[in-house]
Amino acid sequence: MSTNQRKILVTSALPYANGSIHLGHLVEYIQTDIWVRFQKMNDQECYYVCADDTHGTPIMLRAEQEGITPEALIERVHTEHLQDFTDFNIDFDNYYSTNSDENRELAEGMYLKLREAGLIESRMTEHYYDPEKEMFLPDRYIKGECPKCHAQDQYGDGCEVCGATYTTTDLIKPYSAVSGATPVRKETEHFFFKLSECIDFLREWMKSGNQGSSPLPSESVNKLEEWFDAGLRDWEISRDAPYFGFEIPDAPGKYFYVWLDAPIGYMASFKNLCARKDIDFDSFWGKDSKTELYHFIGKDILSFHALFWPATLHNADYRTPSKICVHGFLTVNGQKMSKSRGTFITARSYLDFLQPEYLRYYFAAKLNDKVEDIDLNLEDFIARVNSNLIGKYVNIASRTAGFISKKFAGRLCDSIDEMDIIPLERVKREADNIAECYENRQFSEAVRLIMDMADTANEYVNDMQPWVIAKEKGKEERLHQICTTGINLFRILTIYLKPILPEMAQQIETFLNIEPLQWHDSETLLLDHEIRKYKHLAKRIEEKQVNDMLEKNEQTLGAQPEKSKLAAAKKTPQTEQTPIADTIEFDDFAKIDLRIARIVKAEHVEGADKLLQLTLDIGEETRNVFAGIKSAYNPEDLEGKLTVMVANLAPRKMRFGLSEGMVLAAGPGGKDLWILEPHDGAQPGMKVK
Ligand code: 2FM
Ligand code: ZN
Repeated sequence: MSTNQRKILVTSALPYANGSIHLGHLVEYIQTDIWVRFQKMNDQECYYVCADDTHGTPIMLRAEQEGITPEALIERVHTEHLQDFTDFNIDFDNYYSTNSDENRELAEGMYLKLREAGLIESRMTEHYYDPEKEMFLPDRYIKGECPKCHAQDQYGDGCEVCGATYTTTDLIKPYSAVSGATPVRKETEHFFFKLSECIDFLREWMKSGNQGSSPLPSESVNKLEEWFDAGLRDWEISRDAPYFGFEIPDAPGKYFYVWLDAPIGYMASFKNLCARKDIDFDSFWGKDSKTELYHFIGKDILSFHALFWPATLHNADYRTPSKICVHGFLTVNGQKMSKSRGTFITARSYLDFLQPEYLRYYFAAKLNDKVEDIDLNLEDFIARVNSNLIGKYVNIASRTAGFISKKFAGRLCDSIDEMDIIPLERVKREADNIAECYENRQFSEAVRLIMDMADTANEYVNDMQPWVIAKEKGKEERLHQICTTGINLFRILTIYLKPILPEMAQQIETFLNIEPLQWHDSETLLLDHEIRKYKHLAKRIEEKQVNDMLEKNEQTLGAQPEKSKLAAAKKTPQTEQTPIADTIEFDDFAKIDLRIARIVKAEHVEGADKLLQLTLDIGEETRNVFAGIKSAYNPEDLEGKLTVMVANLAPRKMRFGLSEGMVLAAGPGGKDLWILEPHDGAQPGMKVK
């Protein structure tokens, strides 16, 4: 063991125990797994832990709906999740559950420490209550009519149809999505963690972490600055019975909110591993720990990991994270994954038709260290796997291995020619650059460099033409050297790709008849060594496989109960006509200044589920408008289109910036929403009469 060996604990976000793993989840697990495998190949002491996130109202209700106990549900889902991860070659050191003894002890301990530190306060609060179901309801279980456009069945945070943002209390005719009953407001006592008192600590931590550099990507630092400027509110950490979770010490009938004990689940999973593997838990979690702690998360759960988590850890005398690696969302064919479009692809549907490593390769080719969304374009997926992974990389082995077994009894030669050293040296020289890309999570750049090296290897084989030399008399030794060089180029590329393609690397280790490859093995060559017979390593993707997957996936999704179906009987169907609103005077109507606008730019808005940011050209000026049309449009498809906007609507300050007008769209919502598109000939700025 070298003296500068790093000790690193790595986590991915814990998936909820009430749903299947889908390709959106897999971006993160694949990203983390690649990083961890790279560390392990470099002989670092690195542990990767995760668990199912098992507590909370949705899990309780899901179990009830299925007529089983929450314990039975979470056990079944645990097995399913672990199988999906294993089949995608996600190699956790431990995959545990938040509903464990370790987690209960750690959560209670943490809470008591925070209470001793004076950071827990109890207050009376008002919440929605379902009088029929006799339970308090989280906001996501309240639906109703949009106060602005009167669309039915909207969630409490904003309207999918008109893009208005508001709070649950603004909904007209609210109803419980559980029972359909009209919820009432009811007072109850809750515990709060005084996050507002942690702002100085958090500002400092955000800047310099615990190892002198920011633990967050710059985009997330900006987000935190915004939150700090807006002021931090205290955090409600309790929920009322009935609730599936841990009861709070000294507070019968009150439970820890799922988000209190979820991140503690990282510690609990590790603690469970420590007991089995004799690892010192405190050296990783103690206040002065010199080890590294990396959390990989999606941008939607930044506040939990960059505010509550470091603040609670710090005040309960634990160490804080070294780095929070934040990724964006996955889109499929340029659009948000959607059940109705059939692009909400589960891990299992994928696995039934396609090889897991192809997705690992594709995601790696797209991932970087930025908080950017990544797109799975299915045509591009087929093309990249077939032409790069198979056409460039696997091809090198298939072009040279046959001669070694047929003509040289499977033995590589003991020395190569000087001219063979040139491509080998070139490929070896990239090891440090590629390693740096892996370390910094710039995987797309790593893949680009590796594919450049695959080009170098293919050029070498093309130039040397072993298939021609094989037919020439007296050239056996040269053929032996060329094919040995080809196999060595392939071996080094295999080292570089091993964090991404562990299963293929293992098959290649068997073929090459060698021990598991480590990163430093790229410094050496494999000479005078017997290899096994080459077996076909990978098959090209056929378009039919992808189509069959989509079809089968749609069928499986159709059979799955959705949460909104819980109250289907009582809710108004979304396609029902919205009643015509009260009449207005002509003069009022005449005040609306409608203009033709050209959409010059359309972009996703970070953190917004429904909005697109549009830059509109209306002749003399350009306007910035946030429009709630993301569910129906791909930003790229909008650019260049003409549409109609309300140009004299007073600017509205939204969470994401100033919206200077409104784009007109019609339809019941979701993907059935259409912006108005004037005929060609209309010019930006023209008044609509
Ligand atoms: O957003 C989610 O899916 C949560 N279950 C993630 C929890 S991560 C951690 F903090 F536990
Ligand atoms: Zn609305």
